[in-house]
Amino acid sequence: MGRISLPAYHTKSLWDNLQVNHDSSQTNMEMEKPDPYPVSFTELVRGLLADQFVTHRFRLIIGFLALISVDFLQLSIPLLVKRAIDLLAGQEATMPRLFTLAGAILAIATAVVLLRFVWRMLIIGFSRYLERHLRNRIFDHILAMDQYFFSRRSTGDIMAHGSNDLAAVQMACGMGMVAAVDALVLSVAAIGFMIYIHPTLTLFALLPLPFLALTTRFLSARLHHRFNHVQEEFSRMTEFARSAVVSIRLIKAYTHERSQVDDFNRLGRRYVHANIRVALIHGLLFPASTLIGNIGLLIVLVYGGRLVIDQTITIGDFAAFTTYLQMLIWPMMAVGWVANLTQRGVTALRRIHGLITSEAVLIDTCPSSAMLPGSSGFKATDLTFAYPDSARAQLSNITFEVESGIIGIAGKTGSGKTTLCKLLVRLYPVQRRELFYGDRDVNEIPFEQLRSQIAYVGQEPILFSDTIRANIGFGTDEMSMDKIEAAARDADIHNEILEFSNGYDTVIGERGITLSGGQRQRIALARALLYDRPVLVIDDGLSAVDTATENNIVTALRRRFSGKTVFIVSNRLKLLSMTDRILILEEGKLVDDGSHQALLEKNNFYQAMHLKQMQEMEGLSHA
Ligand SMILES: Nc1ncnc2c1ncn2[C@@H]1O[C@H](COP(=O)(O)OP(=O)(O)OP(=O)(O)O)[C@@H](O)[C@H]1O
Ligand SMILES: [Mg+2]
Repeated sequence: MGRISLPAYHTKSLWDNLQVNHDSSQTNMEMEKPDPYPVSFTELVRGLLADQFVTHRFRLIIGFLALISVDFLQLSIPLLVKRAIDLLAGQEATMPRLFTLAGAILAIATAVVLLRFVWRMLIIGFSRYLERHLRNRIFDHILAMDQYFFSRRSTGDIMAHGSNDLAAVQMACGMGMVAAVDALVLSVAAIGFMIYIHPTLTLFALLPLPFLALTTRFLSARLHHRFNHVQEEFSRMTEFARSAVVSIRLIKAYTHERSQVDDFNRLGRRYVHANIRVALIHGLLFPASTLIGNIGLLIVLVYGGRLVIDQTITIGDFAAFTTYLQMLIWPMMAVGWVANLTQRGVTALRRIHGLITSEAVLIDTCPSSAMLPGSSGFKATDLTFAYPDSARAQLSNITFEVESGIIGIAGKTGSGKTTLCKLLVRLYPVQRRELFYGDRDVNEIPFEQLRSQIAYVGQEPILFSDTIRANIGFGTDEMSMDKIEAAARDADIHNEILEFSNGYDTVIGERGITLSGGQRQRIALARALLYDRPVLVIDDGLSAVDTATENNIVTALRRRFSGKTVFIVSNRLKLLSMTDRILILEEGKLVDDGSHQALLEKNNFYQAMHLKQMQEMEGLSHA
């Protein structure tokens, strides 16, 4: 009498699921931290999941119907086998009868295959839609956040929300829900059939199973923990390798190869150790569940065998009973597993909720209908600003008025030049009546409108791993090549671009060419010029270009921005001498404001800077 190996499938599917769980819980390191966002479970579900469940209700209903049908079809197979065995034992079996039974089993098996396909497509598909929906909400929210938000949260933290937390929610709402429903239906029905065969035997046979649930819960929690550790070690190792490759010149220059190899070896050993700890749990989980399952089987063999001898139940009953018992192993393991998945899913959902309900400090309170002033001038009156969590003000009582023209901003490092630029482009909040664009308080102009007036080149040029054309035309698909070229010409980079192998289609960055610092700056500048906005703010964006290039660029700026305003941060005398007016900052205060000539005559900092740069120039020409 061959044993029907249906339960083996279930064990296999659990195994697969645990594997999937690993993959999706990559570097899920922060999961087990105490929950920092106290929100009720109902609130979470209502706020983040409910609409998706409603939208996809038909998909879910059909999916779960398919899942439940699979369960019942599987449960009917032992009944057919029981029938066959009883026929054989009672000498009533004929070939046609056996063929009929075999045909029925084949039909059921085929239906199971099809229906399993259906539920997987529908329910796991749902969990992916849900994941996408949440991911978009997170992304949407992040883009609406201000600088404060990004100074409070690290990129790694945001990325963890975007990958691990979403994966945990997807897992709980996909495989988690499937396993919960499947386990419930299978166990209730299998126990029902078992009770129908013999209630007392059922009671005895089920005794060991709760231990199975507890063991799985305990071990799968451990497994998750240890697997996170593997991921941590893995990312540590890859990060080490990455930074070694990136800084290979530094390593060689300081002859640190040996120590790097030793460190890498140490990390490798830790990674192996972490993996062995995972293998230990894997090694325990399945043998332990088989053992507990087999204890039940042992009881059935002794007590059930006795019932067959006493002719209380038939041999067919006995065979069906053992099959049902085996079928219960998976649901019992699933209980422990689902509990862990749910717990992780809820924690992740809380963190996502915390993220997308965080509010920006810089809030746009203006009606979007507010009109822009006609002029491109700025006026600051006693402008004072402190970064959050900072004890002192980074800018204090800055007062100036600019109608148009090229305005230099100079000052020692840390004097507040970048901070002033960031306030001009509205990256941080400013007090009312301290900063005006045209004749209007910047607080009365909607962000989008004000920002659409200003092009900004930050201190560190930001380029994407994309073509030069895409980098200059950033975010403007319809921008014509003529305009891109004109902007590149004005930024004095056009000729260099043409020298690259693919011209404007050359890819920059990791898998493309490496640009010099000056080239990066000028591509960032070209991007700003392309927008053709009334105000341009360049934060030290020409620090790495030579004097001739500087000259060309300023000439082009004069032409492009006649009647408009350009702020340009620099400490280079040559560049500053070409501006109309220079603001000098010192420790957050505006200490002087005048033309190049005027400052040369009266400002100490400016004179010292002049002297130093003249000496440098002479030093160069003597060399
Ligand atoms: N996000 C921030 N949070 C807190 N303090 C900041 C922040 N950014 C800058 N600071 C501080 O503000 C002061 C002015 O910095 P800022 O970047 O404006 O100087 P800078 O004049 O542009 O200097 P550099 O010439 O080196 O670019 C410095 O003391 C700096 O430490
Ligand atoms: Mg700066």
